[in-house]
Amino acid sequence: MILIIDFGSQFNQLIARRLRECGVYCIIEPPTIPIERIQALSPLGIVLSGGPSSIYAANSPRVDKRLFDLGIPVLGICYGMQFMVDTLGGQVKASRKREYGFSELRIKQSDTLFKDVPDRSTVWMSHGDSISRLPEGFVTTADTENTPVAAAADYQKRFYGFQFHPEVVHTPKGKQMLRNFLFDVCGCKRNWTMKAFARQAVADIRQQVGDRKVILGLSGGVDSSVTALLIHQAIGHQLTCIFVDNGLLRLDEALKLKKTFKEHLKINIRFVNARTLFLKALAKVSDPEKKRKIIGKRFMEVFEAEARKIEGADFLAQGTLYPDVIESRSAFGGPTAVIKSHHNVGGLPKRMKLKLVEPLQYLFKDEVRKLGKQMGLDPELVWRQPFPGPGLAIRVIGEVSEKRLGILRQVDHVLIEEIKAAGYYRKLWQSFAVLLPIKSVGIMGDSRTYEHIVAIRAVTSKDAMTADWAKLPHDLLGRISNRIINEVRGVNRVVYDISSKPPSTIEWE
Ligand code: XMP
Repeated sequence: MILIIDFGSQFNQLIARRLRECGVYCIIEPPTIPIERIQALSPLGIVLSGGPSSIYAANSPRVDKRLFDLGIPVLGICYGMQFMVDTLGGQVKASRKREYGFSELRIKQSDTLFKDVPDRSTVWMSHGDSISRLPEGFVTTADTENTPVAAAADYQKRFYGFQFHPEVVHTPKGKQMLRNFLFDVCGCKRNWTMKAFARQAVADIRQQVGDRKVILGLSGGVDSSVTALLIHQAIGHQLTCIFVDNGLLRLDEALKLKKTFKEHLKINIRFVNARTLFLKALAKVSDPEKKRKIIGKRFMEVFEAEARKIEGADFLAQGTLYPDVIESRSAFGGPTAVIKSHHNVGGLPKRMKLKLVEPLQYLFKDEVRKLGKQMGLDPELVWRQPFPGPGLAIRVIGEVSEKRLGILRQVDHVLIEEIKAAGYYRKLWQSFAVLLPIKSVGIMGDSRTYEHIVAIRAVTSKDAMTADWAKLPHDLLGRISNRIINEVRGVNRVVYDISSKPPSTIEWE
């Protein structure tokens, strides 16, 4: 295992993902990690991440310097390298020229980390401070035009430092350098696979739960589905899933889920039909935030009432992922692993005195997909695009009614069918339709029509924080529009949303 010390760089999760892509398990811990814990973890290598601070600023984050006495190889990246240099007796200075963006790395000294890396390659830099004097034992291994010490090493102690970011795609040979560190310096083995993870997770769940009962809120998304599979594999019928049909789902969604989980996987699942309840509560409400509040509150009530019917349940399972865990703790210390209560059932564990089971809390989303695939989950669920908790209610702009939901459901169905047929579904972060609260004039056959307008939204994104409108081919857009207008009664116009986030958001409400 590799330990990554988190000095606050926006790229930290990327470091972890790169290492895991190489088949090596790693964890991210804050700089406040006690030295005893590092010893107990006994990592094969330590990566000191980049970070926004200057090493000379008051309160700059530092990790216990005894970490350099453990005989473990260390790779410092940007701030991590500066911290290492400063701690071991070298000097860091504010450079005259800030370096940000692409640079050419010139290798000066052959080095294990540069195995299979050409003498000159492109790297991505982002730093203000520079190294002006290396500690004793270090040599400069590479430079760039503006950075005399772009990489350095103490071969004897196996300490390495990069003043650039090997983890980003803008450093094309970066992954090779990380690979060299893992396998040639640290002696790691490629044993982090989803198969190995599943075996361990199942054993851990059995150990944690014993012969007691677990409740899980199933949404039909990939996270809760994979969580259900893992727990079911571990404890079978001691798991009960609850699925709340709020009437705001897509066409046949509840039905498909029932088929997969109940009939196919034989998982205990309770379906709660709360469609009327939600629709009544939403009647005449058009403000998006009010809709969200109403839906969140009702969901909580329905879920809790159902959960109370399951006698003797001690645990609540959640599909929390590693990014939630990392983001929910303060970057420079504070309590570790306070889980963000972003789930709809946030308050429930405390009220019902339930303990949490979160078997995915060390995984990234792409790993969850791999795990789902490996466990035989229906590919349709594995690759499902994100779907918001409030569902179609925030895609029917303005007042929500069964009639308007029905139109949107049909439109959405046609859209997704065409997107899938054209091979775009997995390439897009999300693709969906929005029903607008205005009508427009059209002509069908010889008659004038006055019907609804729908907007198509399709975006590419990595994490939903930013998103680009998808440049879908015109013939695909044409087919989508034709089919919708011909097949869905009540719609006579289709428009395509060409705004990116920011300044727009992905959802319209
Ligand atoms: P926006 O519209 O803010 O969406 O750009 C970013 C991502 O979050 C999803 N989203 C939600 N998910 N409850 C959810 O569970 C919500 O209220 C909600 N609003 C937006 C959206 O689909 C996109 O993936």
